[in-house]
Amino acid sequence: MTSAAPLSLHPTSWSVRPADFAGGAPELAVIIPTLNERDNVPLVVERLNRALAGIAWEAIFVDDDSPDGTADVVRAAARRQGNIRCLQRLGRRGLASACIEGVLASVAPYAAVMDGDLQHDESLLPAMLSKLKTEGLDIVVASRHIEDGGVGDWQRSRIMISDIATRLGRLVVKADLSDPMSGFFMIRREAFALAMRSLSGQGFKILLDLFASAPRPFAFAEVPLQFRQRLHGESKLDAMAAWEYLMLLLQKLVGPAVPVRFLLFAMIGALGVGTHMLTLWFATRVLLAAFALGQAAATWVAMTGNFLLNNLFTYRDRRLRGWRVLTGLISFYAVCGAGAAANVGVASYLNGDHQAWWLAGLAGAAVSVVWNYAMSSIFTWTPRLPPQPAVAAPAALSDTPAALSQ
Ligand code: GDD
Ligand code: MN
Repeated sequence: MTSAAPLSLHPTSWSVRPADFAGGAPELAVIIPTLNERDNVPLVVERLNRALAGIAWEAIFVDDDSPDGTADVVRAAARRQGNIRCLQRLGRRGLASACIEGVLASVAPYAAVMDGDLQHDESLLPAMLSKLKTEGLDIVVASRHIEDGGVGDWQRSRIMISDIATRLGRLVVKADLSDPMSGFFMIRREAFALAMRSLSGQGFKILLDLFASAPRPFAFAEVPLQFRQRLHGESKLDAMAAWEYLMLLLQKLVGPAVPVRFLLFAMIGALGVGTHMLTLWFATRVLLAAFALGQAAATWVAMTGNFLLNNLFTYRDRRLRGWRVLTGLISFYAVCGAGAAANVGVASYLNGDHQAWWLAGLAGAAVSVVWNYAMSSIFTWTPRLPPQPAVAAPAALSDTPAALSQ
């Protein structure tokens, strides 16, 4: 199949032409997020042409600047048929935000979100559309977990993970969805508009996000989906996606007022206070060190521990690795240096002022926690774009200029 890629880049070879919607606006927009799906795009277009004949539709591929040149392949298709569009995002990443921006880029009253790797059965789209229209629903979800649906031959571990994620998801959605993790659904624009300003837009789980963000319960229906095997490319669902999923769930449980990242930082901070006090106690009571020395040591231990924990959990998406752990740690020490000095200063002052040793230690630690949060989010875990997933050498793409020039 891979050898067909250069050929598929020539839109003239595609079998079915789309229904001409006579200059009018499309009724259905199919939003397709893509990250390194070069070989799948022509096949997706071809299948949509076949499945949606007779419907006024458009497809918007939202590509996060895939290094494999997916956007070029989409544009080659778009030159051939006016109902294919490419929304290429630079310096951005994320399945959910890609879907949101795709829906917003269209005027169609109905929008479907579908994977661009052929795992979703596009032939369900007409039935989903008529169900949405005739039954006056907000959203129709293609579900793998109802009768006649299925996940194909997934590995046991993937089934288990998906099962746990589904159960967790049901905790936050306000509806009895059989497959809250589905990435294939169709939504009425008004329903989308109701929820869109409350969406977290983080990570993978756009459907769950929509349901959890809707101000009123969505009227929904489910249609069975047989999840297909992926033929080209590879899945982007990884540990990072799982972490983002947990953060999304937590955020929805906590509500929008408090950022989950701050909560995590504060929790680790509280743990740090515990570490701090324990070290201080050990240093001053057991080792009989001078108070200022004990406080300084406790600050160092707590800071290092906090750095490691935050790097692992709070800032997993900006996680420092390899030598960056070291430079990050050094920058963490550096930006918090002033805070640590203030910490020891405040604590020593209070201790000298005949305050209880634990009160003095606590006050000093509190000063440094505030410093750590404010400074580290700027200097230590500076927001960076995650590395692009690697792709094989784009051999098939050497044909692209020819395909584009026709
Ligand atoms: N624009 C953009 N940005 N697209 C992305 C990104 C991203 O950061 N990450 C993934 N995609 C695209 C992929 O190119 C593909 O078209 C689609 O989103 C789904 O990604 P996959 O990597 O193929 O996901 P999966 O097959 O492992 O996961 C599927 O099953 C999950 C449930 O088990 C998807 O359907 C998920 O949506 C679904 O929740
Ligand atoms: Mn997939």
